Amino acid sequence: MDNIYIVANWKMNGDNIFNRDLLSLIERNSIVSDSSHMIVCPPMPYLHQVNNQKSSYMMLGAQDISQYDNGAYTGETSGTMLADLNIEYVIIGHSERRELYNEDNSVIKDKFSKAIENNIKPILCIGETIEHRNSGQTFDYIHAQIDAIISNNKLDNLKDLIIAYEPIWAIGTGQTATPEIAEEVHAYIRNILLNTDSNLAANTPILYGGSVNSENAEKLFRMENINGALIGGASLKADEFSKIYNIAGELTNE
Ligand code: PGA
Repeated sequence: MDNIYIVANWKMNGDNIFNRDLLSLIERNSIVSDSSHMIVCPPMPYLHQVNNQKSSYMMLGAQDISQYDNGAYTGETSGTMLADLNIEYVIIGHSERRELYNEDNSVIKDKFSKAIENNIKPILCIGETIEHRNSGQTFDYIHAQIDAIISNNKLDNLKDLIIAYEPIWAIGTGQTATPEIAEEVHAYIRNILLNTDSNLAANTPILYGGSVNSENAEKLFRMENINGALIGGASLKADEFSKIYNIAGELTNE
């Protein structure tokens, strides 16, 4: 396996002391690997803290970006602000944003554009609800979510794209998709990319997210089209998170 991406999505958790200790422990327990890439996404107020404390091998991501440039948008953070802080990645379209803040594919398309304009690499989240899955709509739903981005962007805009497949029924529930269920969707996503461009298909990491932990990570990462994980709950536990990162490192060295 060439490259694995391990993304920590802290969501709305942490404080100065917790973050400091979490980062120190992760640094102590992680075995740095050139082909296993760690991206840490803290809440906005702590981007600066993590940027100052993190080791050089860790990369920094934001959890969201505004679809607007600047102005009267209380509470929002623009792409230029993120770029000003040297933020390299941004999570776009997380299911919690889609569900709790009514972000539809059109808003997500605009947020994607702001990331590209500011040279911030997008981590695009997609995934179906349990209702979609039970009614056989998973693939159509996923297709529409990807198409909203692919059909609105030239290939050059997609060169740093990372996709995270996160079935909503698996997020924070402890109910991980089996490696086979996840792989089926990942292969489908790869095929959509292939229909657009073969380099895009070959170069786009497709991560899995939804109750990933140190017990299930290896089996997931061994699947052909799974190139890493977007991790919520387990990213707040230094031991667990480092274990997952180290598993990824071992696999890329095999
Ligand atoms: P989880 O969250 O690992 O706690 O399921 C994943 C995510 O929402 O990105």
